Parts: sequence; C-alpha cells; structure tokens
Amino acid sequence: MKPKIYLIAVMDAKGGIGLKGKLPWHLPGDLKFFQKTTIHTDDIQRRNMVVMGRVTWESIPEKHRPFMGRRNVVVTRNKDYTADEGVVVVHSFESAMKAVDERVNDVFIIGGGKLFEQGFRKLKIDGIYLTRIKKTFECDTKFPKIPPAFKPIKIGEGADKGVEYEFFFYKKQKTNPKLKAKSRTKGRSRSPKKAGRAPKQKR
Ligand SMILES: NC(=O)c1ccc[n+]([C@@H]2O[C@H](COP(=O)([O-])OP(=O)(O)OC[C@H]3O[C@@H](n4cnc5c(N)ncnc54)[C@H](OP(=O)(O)O)[C@@H]3O)[C@@H](O)[C@H]2O)c1
Repeated sequence: MKPKIYLIAVMDAKGGIGLKGKLPWHLPGDLKFFQKTTIHTDDIQRRNMVVMGRVTWESIPEKHRPFMGRRNVVVTRNKDYTADEGVVVVHSFESAMKAVDERVNDVFIIGGGKLFEQGFRKLKIDGIYLTRIKKTFECDTKFPKIPPAFKPIKIGEGADKGVEYEFFFYKKQKTNPKLKAKSRTKGRSRSPKKAGRAPKQKR
C-alpha cells in the first residue's frame, strides 16, 4: 500500500515553532505524543519514515537521535554532510521521498519551517498532526499557512507546568469530482456569450 504522508508539528498561539535552531519550550506530554504517533504502525514488518531539515536534525539532543524504530532522513545541500550510522542523508527534498520503499509504512515530515513549507508545496499531504499551545513564546520560525482543504479535529489535550495545549488532526477534505465538474460548468455559463446575453458593447 502507498504510504500516507503527514506533517507533524507543535506551534504556539501565534504559529511560532522555533527559536535560534531550538524548540522554545519543553513539553514532555507533546514529546510523548510525537513519539507515539510517529512510531506507530499497524504492520510490524514496516517502519515509518521521519524526514527533517538539517537544522532540525542538529537541534535534537544526541542521546535522542536518530529516532529509534523509524527511518530517519535528513535533508541538506551540503554534499559532505554526515550523520549517525543508519541515517539517510539526502541533498534535495525530492530525494527524501525516493527513500520510500516497500518497508516504509507512513512518512512524517517533522520540520522545521523550511521542510513544512516544501511539504505543502511539493507533496500530496494526507493530514497534519498539530499541537496548538495556548500561549505565545518568542519565536523566529513559523508554521506555514494551512491550506483551507485541511479541517481540524480535536483529538486530545494536555498541560506541562501550567502550559496548556491541544492536539489536532487536520484531515484533508476529499474534493468531490462531480462538484468540481459542476463548478467548472457554472463558471462557463457565466460567460455572457454562453448565457445568451449580448457581449458588452465597445465604446
Ligand atoms: N515546533 C515544531 O514542531 C518544530 C519541528 C521541527 C523543528 N522545529 C524548529 O524549527 C527550527 C528549524 O527550522 P528551519 O526552517 O530553520 O530549518 P529546517 O527546515 O529544519 O532545516 C533547513 C535546512 O534543511 C536543508 N534543506 C532544506 N530544504 C532543502 C532542499 N530542498 N534541498 C536540500 N537541503 C534542504 C538545508 O540544510 P543545509 O543548510 O545543511 O544545506 C536547510 O538549511 C528550529 O528552531 C527547530 O527547533 C520546530
């Protein structure tokens, strides 16, 4: 089966996701959610793949990287870049997707800002796991604008040291091909010629 592609992120009340190459907060409850969501597969023969930018890779404390039980893919333009054993280093966003094979269950784009932006622009995203913190932090990196086709469903909530947050899954709405065709026809009938109206006279 073709892997599904998800984005997973945590952002503050103003869409901020990072500061100076790090996360601006420490939320153990959200880290657990990240771990559980990205590691889970229904098929024990296959693993999920996590794709991240080089800045995000370097932001992960050494003792926590690579993320175990997942195929780790790091994107960098630096051809000499090396990461830990077993980590796949690629040199373009497109090559990251080429690391998908039959042993990959689902793909998670895990950040940061540059990777999320390319994910929306270049891939067919199936859904977004987004933790929304109910507080503002100082940030220099933002989560991109979520396309309107994605509709949020609240799937949980949590708090760490008084910082509250909610877990959402943004599901991509399927566009009904019949409705699409209808709106195309509708568009055409607006043309004065087709609608039987006389075209505007030139002055
Ligand atoms: N809140 C969250 O959910 C979350 C999640 C992840 C990260 N973050 C935060 O976000 C910040 C990092 O985000 P960021 O946007 O600065 O960096 P990033 O997306 O993590 O990494 C950017 C780097 O990835 C490489 N890259 C990106 N696009 C590429 C392409 N098409 N081809 C080849 N290489 C490419 C480049 O590496 P080279 O410079 O090596 O060429 C680029 O500098 C940090 O503060 C981090 O803590 C937050």
